[in-house]
Amino acid sequence: MNVYDSGRIAVILENMGYKAASKVEEADLIIFNTCHIREKAAEKLFSDLGRIEIIKNERAERGLETIIGVVGCVVQAENEQIAVRAPYVNFATGPLTYYRIPEILQRIAAEKNICVIDTDFPAESKFDFLPQNKCSGGCSYLAIQEGCNNFCTYCIVPYTRGVETSRPIEDIIAEAKRLVEGGTLEINLLGQNVNSYHGEDANGKERNLAYLLNKLSEIDGLKRLRYTTSYPADMNDELIACHKDLSKLMPYLHLPLQSGSDKILKAMNRRHTSGQYLNIVEKLKNANPRIGLSSDFIVGFPGETDDDFRATMDMVEKVNYIQAFSFKYSRRAGTPAAVYPNQVEEKVKQKRLAVLQDDLFSRQLNFNKECVGKIMPVLFESKGRKNGEIFGRTPYMQTLVAKGGLENLNKIKNVEITSGGMNSLNGVIK
Ligand code: 5AD
Ligand code: SF4
Repeated sequence: MNVYDSGRIAVILENMGYKAASKVEEADLIIFNTCHIREKAAEKLFSDLGRIEIIKNERAERGLETIIGVVGCVVQAENEQIAVRAPYVNFATGPLTYYRIPEILQRIAAEKNICVIDTDFPAESKFDFLPQNKCSGGCSYLAIQEGCNNFCTYCIVPYTRGVETSRPIEDIIAEAKRLVEGGTLEINLLGQNVNSYHGEDANGKERNLAYLLNKLSEIDGLKRLRYTTSYPADMNDELIACHKDLSKLMPYLHLPLQSGSDKILKAMNRRHTSGQYLNIVEKLKNANPRIGLSSDFIVGFPGETDDDFRATMDMVEKVNYIQAFSFKYSRRAGTPAAVYPNQVEEKVKQKRLAVLQDDLFSRQLNFNKECVGKIMPVLFESKGRKNGEIFGRTPYMQTLVAKGGLENLNKIKNVEITSGGMNSLNGVIK
């Protein structure tokens, strides 16, 4: 979602006449787009800002002005603290109000030496004010829903991105068509809780994600569809059926489980048990036997015992994820779990994370190795690290490197997989 927001900010700035600087020292305007999901992200922002302050001072000695802005969830959470901890910042705006950047920049130009902080939760949708999104390649993100009403007890998102809102069907289809006309072959629909999407159609009727996927599937020239991130309790049968019926829907789903222990899931305020989750997985595998699943996990949530952790490991075994993200629980001020009394010791969290990741990474490696010898359609996105190499993605989101010229970029090619490591595959274009 942050990558998508950054892209939209870039379009705002381009429309104002800004051009991308090749070096940070040459930039008149520097904007940090931030995430507040775990503690490290906020600390990283302040250390990055410290680095930029030096550049701002050096530029000032050369008579050059530098405007520094911060956007995103850290602003929503830290608010005025940003101006206190980093007084050289010129503006800070939350993830729902960055469409106001043009007027903020005008105010700064007129008033000088002010710090504009905008942490509003506006009644209007930012999507009604943003300039039209631009296609930036074969693969595009498209935000269809924002915010979350789930209030998992560890999570800051409902407080920073606000309550759930869904964009209207017509707006999404128009944006998707524009992206496809610009050369997009794959659209990844985004939302914090994407599968609870409930936008209105042209007649004011509420429609769900399954309806939207069916509609998007009809767009000629669009080859691939994905959606992320889904909440297990919102995986209804209609949506599961899309994985059977829609050939454009990729056989890969990110479906965060967080923990395998029902006690911990309850303490997390997740509206599903491990049994219900397995039931959804079974239905998905029945709908499309080739589907690969990925997940997010949190270890060391308050009250997590060795038995609870073992329940997570059992679930990893049962589902056999092809990919997953895993994190140590991080206390977020203002969330209920931050003040739970039974916090888990750091070294226990560390140990559990290592055990879990060991298992997850070996499953990922196994899956990648099993792909060797197969032919997979790959959407090539960019130049590889080495000359003459290009980089793309398989239907399972695996990164793939092949020898090939730039004429293959933004195209889908059949590739024979020749080797598979933990993080990427190698292959030969057929
Ligand atoms: N601590 C650790 N991980 C968290 N996540 C969300 N909040 C926290 C937290 N306080 C993880 C969840 C979520 C992913 C985006 O980040 O696993 O699915
Ligand atoms: Fe956070 Fe996701 Fe839970 Fe919403 S569903 S509160 S975004 S973890």
